[in-house]
Amino acid sequence: METDKNLIRVLAGEPTERIPIWMMRQAGRYLPEYRDTRKQAGSFLDLCYNSKLASEVTLQPIRRFHFDAAILFADILLIPDALGQKVAFEENKGPVLEPLIVEDKLSNLSLDNCSDHLAPIFETVDRVAGELPDDVALIGFCGAPWTVATYMIAGIGTSDQKPARLAAYRHPEWFDALIDLLVVSSIDYLNAQISAGCEVVQIFDSWAGVLPEDEFLKWCIDPVRRIVGGVKKVHPEVPVIGFPRGCGTFYEIAAAQIGADALSLDTSVSLDWTKQVLQEKVVVQGNLDPLAVVAGGSALDIRVNRILKKLSSAPFVFNLGHGLVPETPVDNVGRVVDLVRDFRVGTASQ
Ligand code: CP3
Repeated sequence: METDKNLIRVLAGEPTERIPIWMMRQAGRYLPEYRDTRKQAGSFLDLCYNSKLASEVTLQPIRRFHFDAAILFADILLIPDALGQKVAFEENKGPVLEPLIVEDKLSNLSLDNCSDHLAPIFETVDRVAGELPDDVALIGFCGAPWTVATYMIAGIGTSDQKPARLAAYRHPEWFDALIDLLVVSSIDYLNAQISAGCEVVQIFDSWAGVLPEDEFLKWCIDPVRRIVGGVKKVHPEVPVIGFPRGCGTFYEIAAAQIGADALSLDTSVSLDWTKQVLQEKVVVQGNLDPLAVVAGGSALDIRVNRILKKLSSAPFVFNLGHGLVPETPVDNVGRVVDLVRDFRVGTASQ
């Protein structure tokens, strides 16, 4: 493949000598320069919609660590915001949305204004694409409909996603209509990110792990499969990464059914099982525990090396099992990057 970007080659299934690396939440509060820019912007949403500052924070981790990819600075909850549901981020509390009234018509949500509302995000993409080094790929993203719906229904982050699970059981037609709206808006959103310059997209299904099999198929697999299809129809060359976090052995179903080029693995997925089962079917990305990066020292080195040794015999992208947390020492992120950069495929005993 004709590209300087190692991530793109690996996502296409090409063997590589050097493992590409990026980290979920690589732009964020662990970086002092992020905290400065965030202060300048005002609220978190103000930062997301300020293309100049959002492109700056997208580039900050690239300047420090020269990761193989930058991920667009935005949030999965910009879609509900663009659909007309009020979204805010409160300090030390996280997202707060005006909760949807279950079974109410979804008439206060509308696709009409979405692309205008999200225009600053596409401008961020355009700005970043113009400034990235030639060997760094730009990743766009959206939330998966199930995960976004859990926030839209509860109005806040919940530990068990109870309000959405109950709504889906009690009012399946209403829930279906909400999922359909999110599928359509997510396809348009990702396609517009790609048109503006994103070269890879990732679909975050952070709460995929709470559903039983039939519901997982209906609310996680099927909507994400439709989104991947809607993106591939317009941009067949753009790799898609799925992230059905916490779904255990259902990762195998995701590999077979969503049509993604790669799957991002959470921390709990077995490395042996990944190697034997998943890597036969799909490129994988993951799955270092973000808290190992907080701990540092030999606890960190051992776990980075274990993942590299186990998963590097097939095309593999080094990442975390979930996002970096604010208390992460910056130097420990640098240590992970150094370990992965110094590692050469083929030199590990398998
Ligand atoms: O660097 C990157 O990864 C790119 C930007 C990015 C953010 N959020 C920035 C952010 C991405 C890809 C996301 C995805 C996202 N947002 C997910 C899926 C991944 C995951 O973490 O499971 C989810 C569930 C959200 C919703 C969300 N956004 C929550 C629940 C919170 C509050 C929790 C927290 O970490 O504070 C956010 C806020 C948020 N999104 C921050 C950042 C950098 C922190 C905001 C701040 O600066 O105060």
